[in-house]
Amino acid sequence: MSLPETMRALVQLHDGYSGTAEGPAIDTLEPYLEFREVPVPQVGKGQALIKVHLAAVNPSDLHFIKGEYGQPRVKDRPAGFEAVGEVVAGDTPFVGQRVSFFAAHSGCWADYALTDAAGLVPCRPDLAEADAAGQLVNPLTAMAMFDIAREGDVKSFILNAAGSQLGKLLIGLGRDHDCAPIAVVRRTEQADALKELGAAEVLVTSDDDFMDKAKGIMRAMKPRVLLDAVGDQHTADLFFAMPNRARWVNYGKLSTEPPKLSQMGQLIFQHKRIEGFWLTRWMQEVDQATIGKTIAAVQERFVSSAWTTDVAAVVPLGEAMDKLPAATKIQDGKVFIKP
Ligand SMILES: NC(=O)c1ccc[n+]([C@@H]2O[C@H](COP(=O)([O-])OP(=O)(O)OC[C@H]3O[C@@H](n4cnc5c(N)ncnc54)[C@H](OP(=O)(O)O)[C@@H]3O)[C@@H](O)[C@H]2O)c1
Repeated sequence: MSLPETMRALVQLHDGYSGTAEGPAIDTLEPYLEFREVPVPQVGKGQALIKVHLAAVNPSDLHFIKGEYGQPRVKDRPAGFEAVGEVVAGDTPFVGQRVSFFAAHSGCWADYALTDAAGLVPCRPDLAEADAAGQLVNPLTAMAMFDIAREGDVKSFILNAAGSQLGKLLIGLGRDHDCAPIAVVRRTEQADALKELGAAEVLVTSDDDFMDKAKGIMRAMKPRVLLDAVGDQHTADLFFAMPNRARWVNYGKLSTEPPKLSQMGQLIFQHKRIEGFWLTRWMQEVDQATIGKTIAAVQERFVSSAWTTDVAAVVPLGEAMDKLPAATKIQDGKVFIKP
């Protein structure tokens, strides 16, 4: 296949970190990105070039372009971590095949992306395009964290931001594996849908009796793990109301308000723990066989409809500068960029 010399891309305007902590909300992309014609990346040893079909827009992408993520920005390089596409060149037997991938060397909010050939994930032919575009970041995190939540044969766990895509994946896992999800949201109108999906209980942080209700549920269900994407005061209050040996596993910072930790003695006397989860680290720590098995299970869950991807919007690459900020504000679904 002959490749063009240039491509369209949403290119980063800054290097490194910003030092801000504004969270993933965006009203405009202009301070961070520019839509440009740039050279198609050159494939090096051990790399693969992918023609992007559909790219995910995850909170991590938005933290990243703002300089608030766990790795530094690279000026003039396209943004976008996760996508599906066709391998068009490289050091790999997968040339010509549809793959999901993390864009390790040149981002996927572009016509072409560059990554390590070793990290390509071939897609089952029956895997829908939106599922394939988002099958790594959230699904692998859900699988890995659900194993933490049910350690020791515990029969329930708490999760907040439960109406997020990742929250819904976790609820599906709890439902299917007899480990009751206690879902925490900030909007009452999400409760029915989450119960229908499999949440055993739904707690709404804006309710006056939020903590009273939470304490009753904890006494009855005895969850040991709190999977937290928010990191606000409600999270801390829930954690301090949990039983002995509870673990607060923070994996996101959707709230910009830091919590006050009022009962630190519980870490000493009730053997409670506060820790973090990052998929990047999990992938470095587990063996390749575990990653392969987990990806196969992820694809099977999507194909069998145990999981679905709720699509909020698909924004054309050429219109993303104008339309992406508004699309990210649509609730209860994932946004994608289509080159
Ligand atoms: N650590 C890791 O390795 C890892 C991996 C994957 C994802 N994550 C994190 O997982 C989280 C969910 O990702 P996603 O793609 O599933 O998100 P998503 O579908 O975009 O959903 C975001 C959710 O967050 C809720 N939310 C936003 N700000 C909030 C706040 N201040 N307080 C309470 N809820 C708030 C929203 O609630 P409303 O509907 O009420 O607006 C919405 O339900 C993100 O924080 C992401 O960074 C972490």
